[in-house]
Amino acid sequence: MQRPIGSLGFPVFFSTLSQIAIARNAKECFELLRRIGILVILGRLRIAAIVKAIERSIHNESGWCHKKLNAKSSRFGASNSKATYLRITVGMNRGTSPDVAYVLEIWPSGHYSPIHAHANTYGIIKVLHGEINVKLYRALNVERKRPFQEVTLYKDQVTWLTPGLNQIHKLENKSPNKTCITIQAYEYISDEVSHYEYFDYITNSGHTIDKFDPVSDIDYSEFKEKMITEWNNGI
Ligand SMILES: [Fe+2]
Repeated sequence: MQRPIGSLGFPVFFSTLSQIAIARNAKECFELLRRIGILVILGRLRIAAIVKAIERSIHNESGWCHKKLNAKSSRFGASNSKATYLRITVGMNRGTSPDVAYVLEIWPSGHYSPIHAHANTYGIIKVLHGEINVKLYRALNVERKRPFQEVTLYKDQVTWLTPGLNQIHKLENKSPNKTCITIQAYEYISDEVSHYEYFDYITNSGHTIDKFDPVSDIDYSEFKEKMITEWNNGI
């Protein structure tokens, strides 16, 4: 496994995965990255203030996170409690999508996404807390599930997607005890809102491919209120 170098500065972000290829049209990704930075700087996310509440909500059977994750165990096929993560939309309502969609994703220790292929979108994935392991694949193929690249990203580090590059991947929190929180920004080329973050994935059985219909688990403002309420109530 390769640990990327550097953690701050735009050129470093894009050189960390230089073995893969540096997209010629990565300027769209720089713009997404800049907008994420603005979101965080403006304090709309303030993740650090609620990380402990999120951790407790994951581990407490009465917690919203715990219950939501359990409810999603069959989201990608046969029930698998580890093949789950939380998707929290930031600053948007479905159906009135702006040109950029932000999704906060919460990855408990040991949890992962399926291998999936995005729909030729521009995208940025930035780690806000913990670490995330990223595997890249040349094709979405149930017979060939060997990644051609693997990297672990730590806080403030970033990976990206552009049309034709890095579209097929699997994300996994390999930390033994620490939750990972990432923020993703996607800019879809199509005018059709329904294509937002749409992807195909290999199901939990490993033998079939299905389509992911993007669903938000909750909006970030509501989520933050829930975590604060749970924390104050000792959940
Ligand atoms: Fe993805």
